[in-house]
Amino acid sequence: MTDLTKKKLAGKVAIVTGGASGIGEATARLFAKHGARMIIIADIQDQLGQQVATSIGSHNICTYIRCDVTDENQVKALVESSIQKYGQLDIMFSNAGIISKSDQSILDLDFRQFDRLMAVNLRGMSACVKHAARAMVENKVRGSIVCTASVAASHGTKRRTDYCMSKHGVLGLVRSASKQLGMYGIRVNCVSPNGVATPMTCEVHEKSVEEVEEIYEAGRALKGTVLRTEHVADAVLFLASDESELITGHDLAVDGGFQAW
Ligand SMILES: NC(=O)c1ccc[n+]([C@@H]2O[C@H](COP(=O)([O-])OP(=O)(O)OC[C@H]3O[C@@H](n4cnc5c(N)ncnc54)[C@H](O)[C@@H]3O)[C@@H](O)[C@H]2O)c1
Repeated sequence: MTDLTKKKLAGKVAIVTGGASGIGEATARLFAKHGARMIIIADIQDQLGQQVATSIGSHNICTYIRCDVTDENQVKALVESSIQKYGQLDIMFSNAGIISKSDQSILDLDFRQFDRLMAVNLRGMSACVKHAARAMVENKVRGSIVCTASVAASHGTKRRTDYCMSKHGVLGLVRSASKQLGMYGIRVNCVSPNGVATPMTCEVHEKSVEEVEEIYEAGRALKGTVLRTEHVADAVLFLASDESELITGHDLAVDGGFQAW
């Protein structure tokens, strides 16, 4: 039975990649509200990451570490140093991601951008799952790993072919890892948002937050609401916490009915 008075992440140690901005930042803030003992924000935006960590609660409950997820050694060091300093790792929110600058339709696919995007969105995500899982297995922690996929993980798209492919890969990663890690009590799930106005989407559309929100709202079944980073964070919290203790290998859409079409 769920204890409604209990903070959902009491005593847990969590890593949030891409936590300096957008969905990762909102999730780090929510993890703190729910009693996480330590949140480690891992990103490449040092100033922003440090600011976010300080505003959440400085070294008492949140810290920033520079980690480029495209470099496996940095990911390994991130996990190892977190365990060394804070004693355990219960939650990995593997969320860092990018989108290519150009349209990336198949006729004009630019492979330099493609390679960079795959290195972050797919190889980086895999490295985070790998090293978090290894640490959890070694320390006998029944941890929770959550990745950020996308509605583009299970639909074709008219543009952004590389992004769509990378997110399809994330879904494969989550499904395979959940099967392989279940025997250790480790759960692996993903959230799939559709269109949230974050620095990533505003930059690619070259539009304001309000304009981007309007663009995405048009494609959803559910009207009269705006999908915000906090809604995605709620879903991540659910998957990270013991409230979802029987859920693994799941792709939780946070899309206002976009996929219902
Ligand atoms: N915003 C959306 O509409 C949307 C929809 C579906 C999925 N997503 C996914 O959500 C995740 C977060 O995106 P967001 O919208 O919050 O964008 P964002 O740009 O606000 O946040 C992404 C963060 O990832 C960090 N990052 C980028 N490359 C990195 C690297 N190599 N190593 C470590 N950190 C790195 C960035 O510095 C940034 O802080 C991404 O995986 C994205 O694909 C976003």
